[in-house]
Amino acid sequence: MSVWVTWPALTKLGTLGVVSGLLVLAVERQSLFENNLFDVEDYARYNANITCDARSHTARTEDGTCNILENPAEGSALRRFGRNVDTAVTHGETATLLTPNPRDVSNSVMARGEFKPAPSLNFIAASWIQFMTHDWFDHGPNADADPIQFPLPPGDALGSGTMSVKRTQPDPTRTGADTGMPQTYRNHNTHWWDGSQIYGSSREVSDKVRSFVDGKLKVGSDNRLPTELLSGKSITGVNENWWVGLSMLHQLFTLEHNAIATKLKAKYPEKDDQWLYDHARLVNSALMAKIHTVEWTPAVIANPVTERAMYANWWGLLGQGGPRDDYQAEVRMLQEDLAKSDSFVKRILGFDPSMADGFGNTALDHALGGIVGTTAPNNYGVPFSLTEEFVAVYRMHSLLRDKIDIYDIGSNIVSRSVPMQDTRDRDAENLLADEHPERLWYSFGITNPGSLTLNNYPNFLRNLSMPLLGNIDLAAIDVLRDRERGVPRYNEFRRQIGLNPITKFEDLTTDAATLAQLKRLYGNDIEQIDTLVGQLAETVRPEGFAFGETAFQIFIMNASRRLMADRFYTKDYRPEVYTQEGIDWVEHTTMVDVLQRHNPELSSSLVGVENAFKPWGLNIPADYESWPRVGKLDNLWINGAMRTQFSLEQLPPLVPVDVGGLIGSILWKKVEERTDVAPVGYEKPIHAHGVMAKAKFVPVANNGYTGLFTGADSGLLRLSVTGDPADRGFAPGLAWKAFVDGKPSQNVSALYTLSGQGTNYDFFTNELSSYVSPEANETLGTTVLFSAVSSKPTLLRLDDMAQVTQNGAAVASAKAPTQVYFVPRAELRSRFVSTPHDFRQDLLTLKTGTKVYDVYATSMEIKTSIIPSLNTSYANQRRSNAKKIGEIELTSNFIASQFGDSGVFFKHQRHEDK
Ligand code: HEM
Repeated sequence: MSVWVTWPALTKLGTLGVVSGLLVLAVERQSLFENNLFDVEDYARYNANITCDARSHTARTEDGTCNILENPAEGSALRRFGRNVDTAVTHGETATLLTPNPRDVSNSVMARGEFKPAPSLNFIAASWIQFMTHDWFDHGPNADADPIQFPLPPGDALGSGTMSVKRTQPDPTRTGADTGMPQTYRNHNTHWWDGSQIYGSSREVSDKVRSFVDGKLKVGSDNRLPTELLSGKSITGVNENWWVGLSMLHQLFTLEHNAIATKLKAKYPEKDDQWLYDHARLVNSALMAKIHTVEWTPAVIANPVTERAMYANWWGLLGQGGPRDDYQAEVRMLQEDLAKSDSFVKRILGFDPSMADGFGNTALDHALGGIVGTTAPNNYGVPFSLTEEFVAVYRMHSLLRDKIDIYDIGSNIVSRSVPMQDTRDRDAENLLADEHPERLWYSFGITNPGSLTLNNYPNFLRNLSMPLLGNIDLAAIDVLRDRERGVPRYNEFRRQIGLNPITKFEDLTTDAATLAQLKRLYGNDIEQIDTLVGQLAETVRPEGFAFGETAFQIFIMNASRRLMADRFYTKDYRPEVYTQEGIDWVEHTTMVDVLQRHNPELSSSLVGVENAFKPWGLNIPADYESWPRVGKLDNLWINGAMRTQFSLEQLPPLVPVDVGGLIGSILWKKVEERTDVAPVGYEKPIHAHGVMAKAKFVPVANNGYTGLFTGADSGLLRLSVTGDPADRGFAPGLAWKAFVDGKPSQNVSALYTLSGQGTNYDFFTNELSSYVSPEANETLGTTVLFSAVSSKPTLLRLDDMAQVTQNGAAVASAKAPTQVYFVPRAELRSRFVSTPHDFRQDLLTLKTGTKVYDVYATSMEIKTSIIPSLNTSYANQRRSNAKKIGEIELTSNFIASQFGDSGVFFKHQRHEDK
């Protein structure tokens, strides 16, 4: 029998399976609430000294007191961490503290060899979680006395000698009553989800970050946070372990606070600084909590069950508000099923979700009911605190990279790589100033973090230079801390939180080298496996999960509890406390909105990005067609072409025409598809490689034609060859797409002749046209193939282009050319050599502003003849009749890109489609 949880398998059973998974989680969470909340603090001792004044009834206090008015010390700063496992098993290790040697663990199963990315996430997700943990917990500075010392294992890169790690600061509040009880530690932050990483957890810190004007926080004229004189780090609520990812987030949400304060001031001009500050803090904190719940978490555990669970946590799947409509149909389906005597859900679950628990709630209530805005905070009878086990599962240092790659906005070519250690402390602020936040956000948006697996711990953290501390190995410390603080080792941890213990190392992984290391380290004893090591080693993970089920089990509990126990997310999450503007701000703002508000330069990069924590890229939202032409072009250009640009050294080799690939479905797609982007997996069997630029068509005034021929300033020009010229000769081709406001784009393609210009490799030797004569002996056979879908396969119609202007206006009496000619500009002719070479190298030298083609057009009827000389004569007549109607000018440089090669789509406008 598998030791792993089974609910993920339910997702295979369709919608009812997914909602069944949700019910299973709800029941599990309930049982964890009943069995796994342990409190080790004596609040009464502190309550006597706390007065909850009128302000604290509607505002978060600096130190987190008075959230729970009946127990005001609950959740406040400097109160102890609780536990999620029986306190009897939480005695810090002493005899086994150094077994196995933490540095040996670090060297053998943590050290990163090759970087393993987490492909479904971006690097913002990594900084975000550190940003969150700095809101939630901090064990304070470590103690100087009696450091933990252990020998460097043989062959260690640091040589021989010992490694020294300071102990966690002991709890100075212990009294005789604690004698014999396991060690306790205090959270130096408030336990609440209250933005304390920005606002601080004491009056003293909060006073440092406030401007005391209009409720705002301090920022300089350059929108940057003030810095400490000595360390050079930002002045903010928590600036420990500082690096540029934190600088970016602290700046962003400080600016967001100020934006909220501005909004409130405009609405409530009579209110004073304190009122504005308090309300802006409430709103900003709730916004961060919401972003974490409904955006970060579903990105990290991207499973249909957990996605619904997270929406339910914030909004409930039934209540009012939030984008829950998608889920309501599912909920109705579930309710209908449960009402049946042979309910599918009851059968697969083996329990009855409508049975009430001891508190009178059913599994259904738990699964569907929202937390935020519910009537009363509920701590399940155990005062709220974060726990040591919660801290343990957030040891996610493997998410970090060893270097940060910085890109120009839109590009995928690294412009600069900065080692992580050079992004820390003072360097973080310098980097932010040099590169500007928007470039860093873009760069973080498109890079992956590390995956949470073994042998993926960043090397810079295993050799971390800390001011005043010297070199430390954080991987060894991570392992050591859990042992020191009495977090049970992996298998006991699992038992304690209601999961099956593993029975053999092979349950974790099948990788032979890893198994050998694990068995050696832990002397073949699965009970010795460190909690962090076991978690990272779990290779069986629910689908879409960036981490395993052991960590998840702790999340299920704490993610909900942080909200459920807090007065400001339950009873007092209401307009009377937050203001209506405040509630609306929280409910209607996403991480993408926040990024865009403070970095308008990112608007194109964020087009269609629904979850800011997933890799940014090209998205074509449902309403894409209705956008203005410039928006569509920018989206394709920035998020499509530039993001997938090939560097000069890495141009993909030209390939022969894939004649086989031209048949059947591809051809039909070519004539039927009307989108700008090819369906996923589409590959161009012909004209597979080329270059593309943004281009405008500048018309000759009154050229006689209508629609886009009267001007098209937002277009794409792609130049390519049919296949590898070495194969069947050099056959240049062109495709030009013009975008239209609110309506589909239009395009035309042009060739010289079907079989090309032989051994002449100069792209600009010949003019290209929308009509070429069929060639009886054409070597490719494309004519014959295209005949399957068009009676005039070598003729492209231009009617559509004449029927709409770039503003989207339909043209009443359209006038289209019958044939257009793209005539290379004189200055480009003979600019490039005709001997064999890669034509792209030529075209890539053409910069924005270059006029590439004069466009000629005729409206003479296209007559053909089977007599070759007559046919040529007709063609010549048309050509001499053609007049220049405009020019095509580049509005960007030419670039080669994967999007340009296989993403962008030019439809084939058939004779039949006129
Ligand atoms: C440049 C980035 C980072 C640096 C320099 C850094 C450094 C550190 C250091 C020095 C500690 C204290 C070790 C000790 O107990 O003595 C620590 C603890 C911790 N870090 Fe990081 N860290 C970074 C990023 C992250 C990230 C991305 C996460 C993700 C969640 C994270 C989560 C934690 C957690 C959970 C702890 C334990 C906190 C506690 O014991 O209260 N850190 N980190």
